[in-house]
Parts: sequence; structure tokens; C-alpha cells
Amino acid sequence: MTFDSHAKLEQNLLTCALCPLRQHAIGPTSYNGCPESPLAIVGEGPGGVEDEYGVPLVGPSGQLLDKALTSVKVTRDRVYTTNVIKCRPKGNRTPTIEEGCFCAEKWLDAEMASVKPKVIIALGSVALKYLYGPDKRITKDRGQWFTTKYQIPAIATYHPAYLLRLTGKELIRAKWEVFYDLQKAVAKCLELAPDFSLQSAEPPNLLEQYKTRRETRRAK
Ligand code: URA
Repeated sequence: MTFDSHAKLEQNLLTCALCPLRQHAIGPTSYNGCPESPLAIVGEGPGGVEDEYGVPLVGPSGQLLDKALTSVKVTRDRVYTTNVIKCRPKGNRTPTIEEGCFCAEKWLDAEMASVKPKVIIALGSVALKYLYGPDKRITKDRGQWFTTKYQIPAIATYHPAYLLRLTGKELIRAKWEVFYDLQKAVAKCLELAPDFSLQSAEPPNLLEQYKTRRETRRAK
């Protein structure tokens, strides 16, 4: 499906009720950041904080993502961040591949057609499987370039929620792997879009930015 503008796409997305996941969520979540960015980050699906605010990756995983992005000189206002799934599954369970495909074929595909990023970072297994193939494994396939169905180069890395569950040496190893994966993605992005700045002087406060959306969603 194509839309006249990215704003129109978002307007339609935020009123989507096409599948049962919508029933247990406050509402669909859309994107944050810059729709003109050459770099897109695709997560899994909203957690509790994201469901409240209506935007992806602003809760604990999002805060860890921000730190990781800072280490490679990227701020969230200069990338386009979104999810495979737009509504929080009941009990915060991992969405099934079928749920992922149903939602993403409607919305993520339209977003990518509108944004046309030059590089995509897939965060975790659900994004990797949707963008690459259902038999792919994050442990084996992260850190390697692949071409998405959009013909856009992509690289997968561990989801921040996975890092939040690790401790000790495993955590240190995984953090370095994420750092190198992000570094590769940023290097390719700067090669393909050398004039685009991926870092702004003031990192955005996303919770502040989407405060009004949260209040509106609460009031419904
Ligand atoms: N995890 C994701 O993949 N996306 C979110 O928006 C929040 C947590």
C-alpha cells in the first residue's frame, strides 16, 4: 500500500485495527526519528512503555539502544526507528512469525517504501527473520550483511532486551559485538550518504517529545 506522504501513512497506521493484537494494546505505535534518514533501525514490537507513548524503543530497551548509538556517534533524531509489529501482544509475549508478517506487510513495508533508507539495522530475531528469512538465527547471522526484500543492505545485531538479560563476561562480549555491528552499519551508511549527519548536538528526549501523545492515548 502506498500513501501520499509519510504523515498520511502514520495517520492511517495509528488507527489500524486489522488484527486481534490491537484488542489488548492501548493502540498501534508508529515510528520516531527522521523519515529522511538513510539509516533505519527495525525492532521487534512495542513493550509497555512504547504502548503508552505510541512510539518504538523508548522504554528500557530504547534507553540501552540510545547508549549503544552514542558509542557510534548516532542520535535518535537522525535515524528512523520503527518495529516489525505495531501493537503490543497480550502479556508482552514475542509475536509469532505470522503476526509479524501480517502487520509488517501492511505497515513496515509501506514505511520502508516511503523512507527508502540506504541501510537497515535489524534488532533481534523477529526483525532478522522478517527482513531476511524465517530460518535465520541471530546468534549465527548477526554482524553479516544481507539484502532485504526491499533490496536494501541490512545487518542484524542483538536486541537490547537480550543484553538486558545478560551479566558478566557474556554481557561484555555481546556489548562489543553490538558495537562492531553498529559501527559497520554506520560506516556503510556514511559511505552511501556522505552528506547526511547521523548525530545532532542535542540528543532528543523522546519521552518528553511524545508526552502529549501519551496523554491523548491515556484519555481514550
Ligand atoms: N522492543 C522493541 O523491539 N521495540 C520496542 O519498541 C520496544 C521494545
